[in-house]
Amino acid sequence: VSRAEAMAAAATSLAELAGAQEAFDGIELKKGARNFCFCDGNPAARVMIIGEAPGEEEDRQGRPFVGRAGQLLDQMFGAIGLSRKAVDTERALYITNVLTWRPPGNRRPEPAEIAMMLPFLTRHVELVQPQLVVLMGNTPCIAALNQQGILKLRGKWTTAFGLPALPMAHPAYLLRTPLAKREAWSDLLSLSARLDG
Ligand code: URA
Repeated sequence: VSRAEAMAAAATSLAELAGAQEAFDGIELKKGARNFCFCDGNPAARVMIIGEAPGEEEDRQGRPFVGRAGQLLDQMFGAIGLSRKAVDTERALYITNVLTWRPPGNRRPEPAEIAMMLPFLTRHVELVQPQLVVLMGNTPCIAALNQQGILKLRGKWTTAFGLPALPMAHPAYLLRTPLAKREAWSDLLSLSARLDG
């Protein structure tokens, strides 16, 4: 059992998990980051969004998806009536990332970093117990499905952490590739239908 696995397994609440994950110093990224970035939104939400890693603005604020990609994410989910600010659990979102520390210069997370932090993410999903998860971009697909190629995976329901899971293109990609917003919209409608059904 890795140290990360032991620490994650010992956490019996989200507060304990956050404390353990922040204290875990087996990951080099921690040294170069400003703030620990654990979650945002409502832990009672039906939908848990899993992103990649904090960027510059997230590192500054210590919250996931608060930069440009995060604004687009809020608009996208807002269009199907979901919000990280919602108190009503039916409309609420809960948001986290595979990595809780910013990679230097926003470089892509390395496979070893993803693998090292996976026990914490797995426990995070267990403690939140959402109805379903959204895998936002390649990194969470690598973490949860051991697969990559988000443009092929997106929009196809699968299982991650024992739950229904929908891979979607990352909003940072959509900002660079506006035409891909069409597929993202169809994925959002699929998510919405699943929640209604
Ligand atoms: N991109 C992510 O995947 N997560 C964030 O929190 C911000 C940008």
